[in-house]
Formats: sequence, C-alpha cells, structure tokens
Amino acid sequence: MSAPPKEVISELEALCQTVEHHSRLYYRDDKPEIPDQEYDRLFDRLLEIEKQWPELITPDSPSQRVGSEPLSGFVQVVHELPMLSLDKIVSFEELQRFEARIQKRLESEADISYSCEPKVDGVAVSLLYEEGVLIRGATRGDGAIGEDITHNVKTIRDIPLRLSGKQIPRRLEVRGEIFMTRAGFLIMNEKAIESGDKVFVNPRNAAAGTLRQLDSRITARRPLTMFCYSHGVLEGGEQPSTLSEVFECFDHWGLPVNPARHVCKGVHASYDYCQDLLKQRDHLDYEIDGAVIKVNRFELQDSLGMNARTPRWAMAYKFPAEEVATVLNDVEFQVGRTGTITPVARLEPVFVGGVTVSNATLHNMDEVERLGVRISDTVVVRRAGDVIPKIVSVVKSARKKGARNISAPDKCPICRSDIEHNEEEVLMRCTGGLFCRAQRTQSIIHFASRPAMDIDGLGIKLIEQLVDREILKSVADIYSLDVDTLSNLERMAEKSAGNLVSAIEKSKQVPLARVIFALGIREVGEATAQSLANAFGELDAIINASAESLEEIQDIGNIVAHHIRAFFDENHNLEIIDKLLKAGVRPIESAPINKDELPLNGRTYVVTGTLEAMGRSQAKEKLQQLGARVAGSVSAKTDWVIAGSGAGSKLSKAEELGIEIIDEAAFLSLLEQHDILV
Ligand code: IVH
Repeated sequence: MSAPPKEVISELEALCQTVEHHSRLYYRDDKPEIPDQEYDRLFDRLLEIEKQWPELITPDSPSQRVGSEPLSGFVQVVHELPMLSLDKIVSFEELQRFEARIQKRLESEADISYSCEPKVDGVAVSLLYEEGVLIRGATRGDGAIGEDITHNVKTIRDIPLRLSGKQIPRRLEVRGEIFMTRAGFLIMNEKAIESGDKVFVNPRNAAAGTLRQLDSRITARRPLTMFCYSHGVLEGGEQPSTLSEVFECFDHWGLPVNPARHVCKGVHASYDYCQDLLKQRDHLDYEIDGAVIKVNRFELQDSLGMNARTPRWAMAYKFPAEEVATVLNDVEFQVGRTGTITPVARLEPVFVGGVTVSNATLHNMDEVERLGVRISDTVVVRRAGDVIPKIVSVVKSARKKGARNISAPDKCPICRSDIEHNEEEVLMRCTGGLFCRAQRTQSIIHFASRPAMDIDGLGIKLIEQLVDREILKSVADIYSLDVDTLSNLERMAEKSAGNLVSAIEKSKQVPLARVIFALGIREVGEATAQSLANAFGELDAIINASAESLEEIQDIGNIVAHHIRAFFDENHNLEIIDKLLKAGVRPIESAPINKDELPLNGRTYVVTGTLEAMGRSQAKEKLQQLGARVAGSVSAKTDWVIAGSGAGSKLSKAEELGIEIIDEAAFLSLLEQHDILV
C-alpha cells in the first residue's frame, strides 16, 4: 500500500479544522456561516480521505463525533485521583457552621471567598486530555473506578476533541457534569413517542441511559451537553491558584463552563446566591438539585483536606427534591367540561419541587396501565420546572399485599349516564351533556374564565356552591345573579357581592371571539373562535353557517365543523344563547375579514415570559387580530417567539430549533406598525 501523498495529509488537516470550526458555529453558537450543503461537502470530502487512508484518522477528527460500531461491553477505568462526593446542607445555619469549622481549622476569622455554582443534575464524568487531545472519557463510578465512555463522550458537540488557545497543559483531567437540557429532553421524548420508542422519566435518567449506550451512534443523536467544574490531574503548564482561575482557563481552552457560577465572599453572599438560584430554578433550561459552595483558593483547600469521602472545603446546598416517593391513596374519576373522564390520583400529601402535592393527573387508562399502578402503591411523584405534578413510576418492590387494581368506571361517576369510549384517543366521555352536574359546573367555570367572558370574582369555589344550590343551571343564569342572592352565600360579603355584580355587568360587552370561545363548543379553542369571528363577523352568521362554509375556514376541518354545527343544532344551546342575548350580552361584532389579507396570516407565534405592557392573553388576542396563530408550545412549526423577561425553557427550545426570537420592544413596534393599540 502506498503512503498518502503530502497534499492529502495537509488537505485533511485543513479539513479537520474547518469542519470543526463550522460545526461549532452550527451546533454550539447557532450561527452557521456557510450553507448546510457546503458543510456537507467538506465533511464528505473529509470522510472520503479517511476512508482511503484510515491511518490518517486522528482522535480529534470531526468524523469521530458521529459514533461508531457498538462495543461489546464497558472497560473499567481507575481514576488517578479519586472523584469525591459532597456533604449536604439545607439551611443558612448549617452553612454558617460549615464556615465556622473552616475558620477554626484555618485559625482565621477572615471572610472566605467561595466559588458558588449550580449543582447540575446529570452524570459526573472525567475527561482526559493529553497534549490537548481528548483521549478518554470515563464515568465517576464509585469515585475510585468508573467506566470508559470515550466513544460516547466524543459524540457530544460541546466537548472539544482538541483544546484550543494558549498554554495547554501536557496532561489535563477535566471533571464535570454531562446532562440533557429540558428542551432537548422534551424534543427527544416527543420523537420517541412518535416512533414508539421508550420514553425517559426525566432528563437525568435520559443522560445516564444515553451515556451507558454501547452503540455511540445512538448517543450521537441524543442532545447531551456538559458543564466542567473542576480538574483532576494537571501536568505541564501553570498551576492555577483558585478555582475561578481554572474556570477562566477552561473557558479559554474551549471547555464548556456554567455562566451561572459566581465567586461570593463570606456565607451571607453565598447564601444569597443559593436563594437567587432557587428562584431561577424553574427558568433554567437544565435541572439542578442545589448549589455547590467551594472554597475558591486551592491553598486553603489543601490545608483543609478531607474527611473519609468528602472534602472539608465544599458543600452541596440542596434544594427541595423534584421527585419524591409517596403513597397512592385512591384514584378518582373527574369529569371535565366536555365530558372527558380523567383518572386523578389522590396522594398522601408530599412536599415536592417546593410545594405540597396531594393530587396528580393520571391522564387516561392507558397511562394507568403503562405505569402498572395499583391503589396503596408507593409511587414516585415529580414536579419540576413549573409543570403539573405527575406520577412517573411505581416502586413495585414496596407493593403491599392486597394492593387494589384500578378499574375504569362503567357509568359517569357524577350523573350515572353512559360512557362513550373513544378508541383512537384512549378517552372516556360522559354522554350526559349539561344534564351532568360536573359538565355544567365546568362549562360555567370555562365561561367565566379570563380568556372567555373574564368575570372577575366568579371563581371555581363560588361556582360550585351556586351549582350545588341550583342557583346556576346554565351559563345564562349568571346574568340573573343579584347582590341579595350572592350575599346570602357562604363567605360572601355585601361588598364583594356588589363587585361581582359589576363584573358580570361589564362582561356583557366583549369581542365576539371571546363569546364564541366562552360557549365551550367542543374543540373550539381561542384561535378557532377568533377565526370564526374574523370570517363571519357576527354571531347570527356563525349560528347559521353550513358545515361546508365552516370548513372553508382555514384550520377548521370536518370534525370541528361537525362539532360546531352539532352545537348550534341543539335547541338547548340556542335557548341559552337567546337567554344570554335577552339578558343584555352584546358581543362586539365587526365586518367579516378575509383572513388572507391579514398581515400575520399563516404565521405561528409563541409568547413566553413576562411582558411589561400587557398580559400574555392580551398579547395573544392582539396577534390573533392580525391573523397569526398563537401556539402554547414551541415546535418546528413555530415562526416567531416573543420573549418577555424571565423566559425559560420555551426560549431555549426556540434557540435550539433556530426559531426567530423577538423581545417586547420589537413586538410593540410590530403592533404599532399595524395600528393595534396597546
Ligand atoms: S464538585 C469535591 N461541582 O454533585 C467536589 N459537583 O455530590 C465534588 N455536581 O458527583 C464535585 N454539579 O455529579 C461539583 N458544580 C458542581 C456540580 C457537582 C453537579 C455533582 C457531581 C458530584 C456530586 C457531588
């Protein structure tokens, strides 16, 4: 075999650098400089050369990122320096005691500087660089011995295969946490559901499961990332004197470090850092289980030394857990506004993710089956990042004798009407309609809610009371409520009764789209209601529209058209509408608008975070007026994301998907441009 020509060697070297450069711009910075085809062309050429001369393949070639043939097993790695764990604290007093112990040992009263960092919930790993080239990645394992996961680590785009910059040490062991972002986790699970693959319970398990893949081609397709937080072996090169200096060096060499780290002087500042971080927790795009507080100066760390397995110079300040075990006491079946029957778990109250949780949805009977859960089982409840609590798994080993199976009801638990089973949607539905007290209550709650008629002061508890006493039999009865009737109710003073009556009066004049939405027609959400209002202009025209003319409206298919027609064909519903109008409800109507002519027609927006000038629902209404579709979550179909302050995972998902993001100022000027008043 002939040796590769010199030109080929230098071409490959140049290609490695160029491809790695563009791959960083694309994957890490979201700022590609060259078109995808050009990138593919360069990459293909690189692969072509490597295929012809495999001896030229270097460990830092971009080709190493795509994964390789599955391994037959994991090889053990003995850590040159042990990977320690941390002692935990949960209060300011414990933090003070931590510092007092340090000061005593150091025989100094001086304030100590700490490097404070988020404690990322992922998998601890060690990366070994020799002459700047990544040669090995290993898990922490038991701290002394881990597993070789080099094949997987190399597929992670944020981890440099070769360090860049100046004064690179001859040997450097970098330690840190590999994790999955919340957005990456959601996208991955969505894809898994689509293709019928296993879904992961949480980002941490997903990261751990992915790193344990023997087939790194699978790892390469999963969105893992890393933050580096310390070093182990460091040979050749300058020895840093503080941890914050190490972070600077890491950053300079291209290693990912957490921007949320901070050096704090003394325990008060460190405690404030922890509290701030806790407030930020739900808005971060990765899961954390606390903060880590480490003495910043290595000299002091060395004098402090360690206990059996944990250093004396660091502490984990733990936040409330987001997954906790508790007991499932019972399952009740709740009936929603449109009759959908949902199993709801009644739990032994448990403190999880910072709040006490006693209920969790089980979604549907398929979910009950998938979990294999029984009454009296110990279950793991999860509440993370502001989402509603969910049962994620069952501790089967703790199952008690006589644990009861959960069976679906055969009649509506509220009104005893028959249940209709919708095979496709795995849903059960009560056929009782407004005869069913639960549906009646829910439809009134919906009618009065903010995006509908927005009746301030007519809340859930009050509505339940009014329905129970048969004062409210339908939404139309709301307009007969008077101060006398209301002030006779429990916990209702005359003043609040008066306020409520004025709020009811005020709700008589709202835009047509809100009235349509308030009626609670099946599958007619805010956006469809707006489309109907735009297309027909007035209520009568919608009531009389044929199924064909309804279907002509964009976004309305034959199923929704059928639901709309069925609603208005029902005499009972027409009577209610009649009563509403007689009571003085006057939807604000306007001439029909041709949707095609609206400036934002066909565009999908997502609004996230807090806007100064208006609430999110107002922002949504204004966008819909301009013809935009407003979605609740970010997906590949989103065109624009409007991000207010404190925007969290939706913003990061948008960034990840490369969706255009505009801030509040740009949004306001967009409205102004189209003469929409704020
Ligand atoms: S420092 C002696 N820093 O927490 C120093 N650990 O119980 C030991 N972790 O296994 C680690 N974020 O997986 C450190 N910024 C951070 C961290 C962090 C997460 C994890 C790590 C370790 C565990 C310690």
